This record gives sequence, structure tokens and C-alpha cells, in this order.
Amino acid sequence: MAEAFDRWLPYIQPVAETLIDMADISQGHAILDVASGTGEPSLTLARRYAKAGISVVGVDSAEAMVARANKKAEIEGLTCLKFRQMKAEALDFENAQFDRVISRFGVMLFDDPLRGVSEMRRVLRHGGKMVVAVWGAFHEVPSLHLIWEVLMKAMPEEERPPAPRIGRLGARTDLEALLEEAGFEEDKLEITPFILNYHYDDFESYWEISTSAGILKEPFDTFSAEAQADLKKEVEKLSLSYCENGQLIFKNKALLALAGK
Ligand SMILES: C[S@@+](CC[C@H](N)C(=O)[O-])C[C@H]1O[C@@H](n2cnc3c(N)ncnc32)[C@H](O)[C@@H]1O
Repeated sequence: MAEAFDRWLPYIQPVAETLIDMADISQGHAILDVASGTGEPSLTLARRYAKAGISVVGVDSAEAMVARANKKAEIEGLTCLKFRQMKAEALDFENAQFDRVISRFGVMLFDDPLRGVSEMRRVLRHGGKMVVAVWGAFHEVPSLHLIWEVLMKAMPEEERPPAPRIGRLGARTDLEALLEEAGFEEDKLEITPFILNYHYDDFESYWEISTSAGILKEPFDTFSAEAQADLKKEVEKLSLSYCENGQLIFKNKALLALAGK
């Protein structure tokens, strides 16, 4: 996953830009990026504010992700940025150590989102801000949901895997409830929907990127080559409703939450 993940980065870069704007970074800020994957949004942040004396720590539970992220920071000479392997649910930092805590597309994947977000709040200083991005409900992320539905229908019911975690906090009320349970006050919370347009030049590129890595790969690989070819034909037919001017365009929904402490 660490190797294949970067192909999605250009698609989700607009979320990094908006999340960083919302975080309202100032000179000298100490920033924590939780579930930093292969380095974003930390890398964008460090490039943008390198001369403003900020320090950024990115943490992720997956060792391979952390290694890849550190390599990128090293190649770019971003000395204000460091990545460490750590679970969100057990952050190895003092209370109130950070001015900003950010996370893009991580919280809904945590084993224990309440514990993770409570930890993120604990390490945030009073007056600090946290900004997190999560995906909308699974059906609101059509670039993945379209293929998932076709795969699930083709599988015997008893063999179907549970729905992926990505949509777990996709209802605004669920995200709000989680943040409040973690201790953030309602009047310091702002949740905004964000639509990410995923563009593909043709069906082939959509199919290749979607089935070669990520959450669709595992269920897809359980089918024979012949069945996979049939599934592809079916998805191609259904994808016509996302065709605009010769391109495939999926409007995937995310939620951005800004929470003050
Ligand atoms: C979809 S990726 C997002 C990566 C990066 N933030 C980005 O937007 O490019 C989700 C990341 O969350 C990490 N993750 C999942 N559960 C975690 C946890 N409990 N603590 C820390 N990281 C976690 C995964 O290892 C993965 O790298």
C-alpha cells in the first residue's frame, strides 16, 4: 500500500491545500500530522512554511509509510519535518505540546477513533486548532463505491467482506458526535463538505488505478481472470453515467472539520 499510495496524491491534493488554509499556520508553530501516510499534508505544509520557523511531526502506524515519508523529507532537505511510527490512539507526546494538529483521511481508519481523537486533543495546546479531513459516506465516494457494489453483487453473501472503514464518519452528525465526545466544544466546531473531482482520461486508466491497489484490490483479486473481465465490462457500462466530454469525472465527497480547544 505504501508503494502504491502515491498515485492518489494528486487527486487529493486540493484537500491538503484547504486543510492547511483552515489550520491558519503562524510563525514558529509546532504542528502534528496524524496518520501522515507517505507524508501528506506535512510535506506541503513544510514546503510552504519552511522559512517561518515551524516544526512538523508526522506520525503513522505503518512503518513502510513512515520510511517513505522520511525519505521524501530527506530528499527535499526539509529539516523542519520528521516522521515517526506511532498509533494515534497512543501518542507519545506531552499534553498541550502542539499549536496545531492536522489529519487528512486518517481518523475514520483508526481502530479506536474516539481514543485517537481524544489523544489528538490532549496534545493540542489551549487556544490551538485541530483540522481533520474524512471521507463522506461510502456511497458519496462514487469512484470507489461504483466498483465495490459490482464486486459485492458478484460475491456470495457469506463471502462478502464488511464495508470499508472509509465511510465510517461520513455522516456529519457522526463526526460531530465523535469530536464532542473527545472533548471539543460544540461552539468551537465547524464542519464543511468538500467535493473532490476525480478526473480520468478514459475508463482504462480509472480501472487500472482502482483495481491494482487500495481497498478494491483484495476483493477483486478473489475472482478468476474470466470473472474479472466480466466485472470490468459491467463497471465500464455503469461508468458511462460519469462520462463528461470524453472524461470520467467522479465527484467524491469529503468532510473537513475545524475544532478549537
Ligand atoms: C488514507 S491514508 C492517508 C495518508 C495521508 N494522511 C494522506 O492524506 O496522504 C491513511 C493512513 O492512516 C494510517 N493509520 C490508520 N490507522 C492509524 C492509527 N490508528 N494510527 C496512526 N495511523 C493510522 C495508515 O497507516 C495510512 O497511512
